[in-house]
Amino acid sequence: MKKIICNNREEIGKAAAEIVLAQMKRKPDSILGFATGSSPIPLYNSLIELCKKSELDFSRVTSFNLDEYYPIKRENDQSYYYFMWDNLFSHVNIKRENVNILNGEAADPAGECRAYDEKIEKMGGIDLQILGIGHNGHIGFNEPAEFLSADTHMVTLTESTIKANSIYFKTEDEMPKSALTLGLGGIMKAKKIIVVINGSSKAQAVRRLFDRRVGTDCPGSILNLHNDVTVILDNEAAELI
Ligand code: PGA
Repeated sequence: MKKIICNNREEIGKAAAEIVLAQMKRKPDSILGFATGSSPIPLYNSLIELCKKSELDFSRVTSFNLDEYYPIKRENDQSYYYFMWDNLFSHVNIKRENVNILNGEAADPAGECRAYDEKIEKMGGIDLQILGIGHNGHIGFNEPAEFLSADTHMVTLTESTIKANSIYFKTEDEMPKSALTLGLGGIMKAKKIIVVINGSSKAQAVRRLFDRRVGTDCPGSILNLHNDVTVILDNEAAELI
């Protein structure tokens, strides 16, 4: 895994945006995998800026998001559907019909997951996947567990994730305790992966990510088996490596 160490979140965003820009120049109809959470926000801000300056064109891009809470309504301001439109899609020229986000209201979540994997495969696979990492080493909502799932699936969120994300909900009770997520197979099939990480609270997860041991205790550690991963992080997140 390559790593780029930056001084702050804005630099992380700019460095990651350079990689997205290069990808879109190489392939204007790229299939991009987007992530939510606080980590990718500076990247999305940089992409919006580049798009406003006409240096980036999303008109031929197709997107697949990593995960979504379940159950959750799209219009809930904590849904990842809402997050993506609020933080990126409304501000760039992506076509609505080219945006794919797992449906947190699907009556048949297993069918929803299967159809999502089939659509990604039919489109030729994700060219560039953007990831963050959880304090517990999760990527997407693939939580540490005895076994990890290859395919898109429904997960029960761990206490650590509920604690980390419930701050965004009015009360912990309002936070969904399950989610739909791309599996580790889906993530690893992406041709190129970038991981954006900031803050000292992620330093332990980063140490585990870089210690070269692959284990289900840290789902992110599987990225060591991929041949094109760039981790972009700040000094605080990198303080234990
Ligand atoms: P965060 O989430 O960017 O909000 O820390 C990352 C993640 O949980 O994958």
